[in-house]
Amino acid sequence: FQPKRLAGKKLLITAGPTFEPIDPVRGITNLSSGKMGFAIARAAVEAGAEVTLVAGPVHLPTPRGVRRLDVQTAQQMFDAVLPLAPQQDIVVATAAVADWRPAQMNAHKIKKKDGGKAAPVFELTENPDILAAVSASVDPAKTFCVGFAAESQDLAKHAREKLERKRVPLIVGNLGPVTFGRDDNALLLVDAQGERELPHNDKLSLARELLRDVAERIAKARPT
Ligand code: C5P
Repeated sequence: FQPKRLAGKKLLITAGPTFEPIDPVRGITNLSSGKMGFAIARAAVEAGAEVTLVAGPVHLPTPRGVRRLDVQTAQQMFDAVLPLAPQQDIVVATAAVADWRPAQMNAHKIKKKDGGKAAPVFELTENPDILAAVSASVDPAKTFCVGFAAESQDLAKHAREKLERKRVPLIVGNLGPVTFGRDDNALLLVDAQGERELPHNDKLSLARELLRDVAERIAKARPT
């Protein structure tokens, strides 16, 4: 039995990688499967929330009852998320947003030159930080923002840096080795006070535990 802890609440979640085009047939992306974000979207519907899922290119079915907006690039994700953020009670950023994109998109496929000897050089430009922009644009008393961290070392330290840099109350670290594409994970919840581990489990169970924790934080901050 799952009590409807998030009844009447709006939750927006970003998930998956972004795809930054180089030319019409090539681009920069990463190995994010979107599974953690989709699991959180599903768990949020179960908990009674009205859920909007902004997804990069992933191969996953839309969880029942979720409003899904598909995007490709970080800029498109930014444009979809920012106007919706202030109306949300919770924003969870699980997307593995590309940090950089090619400065120019070539209108046509780049061809080999000089028999393949002259490799092209790409200039990159920084993408907007969606979570940082969301946290700067919402009322923190209304919208609770949660970020994720995937690090290969010093997880707690990096998570703590992200708390401050992005000005969010909670960062969730992936404790597993490489979790991309897997159905299981372990999470480390890092806030200004300390840390709490959600031990190894399947992603849907972890999503339910994470939302239980977030619902408790909201209830504590805004007693009714
Ligand atoms: O430090 P880093 O940018 O990797 O932090 C990751 C967190 O920030 C994740 O929650 C991710 O979804 C979010 N993020 C974002 N926009 C970016 C980069 C990261 O929303 N451009």
